Amino acid sequence: MSPNQPGQMPKMPIPGVKNLIAVGSGKGGVGKTTVSVNLAVGLASLGYKSGLMDADVYGPNVPLMMGINRTPMAFGERIQPIEQFGVKLMSMGFLNPGDKPLVWRGPMLHSVIQQFLRGVDWGELDYLVIDLPPGTGDVQLSLIQTAPITGAIIVTTPSDVSLEDARKAIFMFHQVKVPILGMVENMSFLMCPHCKERIDVFSYGGGRRTAEQMDVHFLAELPLDPAVRIGGDSGRPIVLRKDEGEPFLALAKNVAARAEEAAKEEGPKIEISD
Ligand SMILES: Nc1ncnc2c1ncn2[C@@H]1O[C@H](COP(=O)(O)OP(=O)(O)OP(=O)(O)O)[C@@H](O)[C@H]1O
Ligand SMILES: [Mg+2]
Repeated sequence: MSPNQPGQMPKMPIPGVKNLIAVGSGKGGVGKTTVSVNLAVGLASLGYKSGLMDADVYGPNVPLMMGINRTPMAFGERIQPIEQFGVKLMSMGFLNPGDKPLVWRGPMLHSVIQQFLRGVDWGELDYLVIDLPPGTGDVQLSLIQTAPITGAIIVTTPSDVSLEDARKAIFMFHQVKVPILGMVENMSFLMCPHCKERIDVFSYGGGRRTAEQMDVHFLAELPLDPAVRIGGDSGRPIVLRKDEGEPFLALAKNVAARAEEAAKEEGPKIEISD
């Protein structure tokens, strides 16, 4: 790696924030925001101090999924995060509500990400979950270059196309020396409400297999469940529901356990040379 590559730059801690967890994927639409929102709310309901930063500047879905249509206040230079379900939140969707898209290039994106990381009054947090946009672009780089990420979670579905892209995302994090906390397989299966049989809509077992091949932890199999989508669209994350929320709460417990382990580990196991 040359000295100018992102993994080599100094990373300033965010005062008060113990763990930064980035949620990414290769492919879009596989459930990153759903996982991020339920993870942040799940961690809060387990008693952790939890925050959620929506780093998807162009397509911020966190406000809708958390049921928020307020604008954060600023005191002096600092923005006060909005609080919902015990989670501190920041999203571009709070500042640019409605359907008008933002048309920004790299440097602008970089300064927004920095503003969200360091200009928001996060206070004391055990976990700040970061919902990334899909892929391996500018936002990911800006974050990785400047923030000491405890670990990344890669979300995939069991389909081959999603797994192919998930592998790229894993390689990207390895390359810039961000530990991978583990992989989440979302939309793993559907329990047919009529015949009660399991249907493997997007194939079966690919997430676990890929995790094993790439030597990363497998964190959870999350069902494809209409209640998950309804929870997202209605702004009441499914993790708040007793039975249906159980797989998401189990994910939050696993992530907390892995973050503690990762803090003790020295770095990623695989190193890739140029
Ligand atoms: N396990 C699930 N069961 C049912 N619906 C789900 C599940 N996971 C996600 N969804 C739904 O699929 C859609 C896409 O999910 P989401 O927005 O979380 O994906 P994403 O990876 O963040 O997308 P993008 O790449 O655009 O940011 C949403 O409508 C969400 O409610
Ligand atoms: Mg998203």
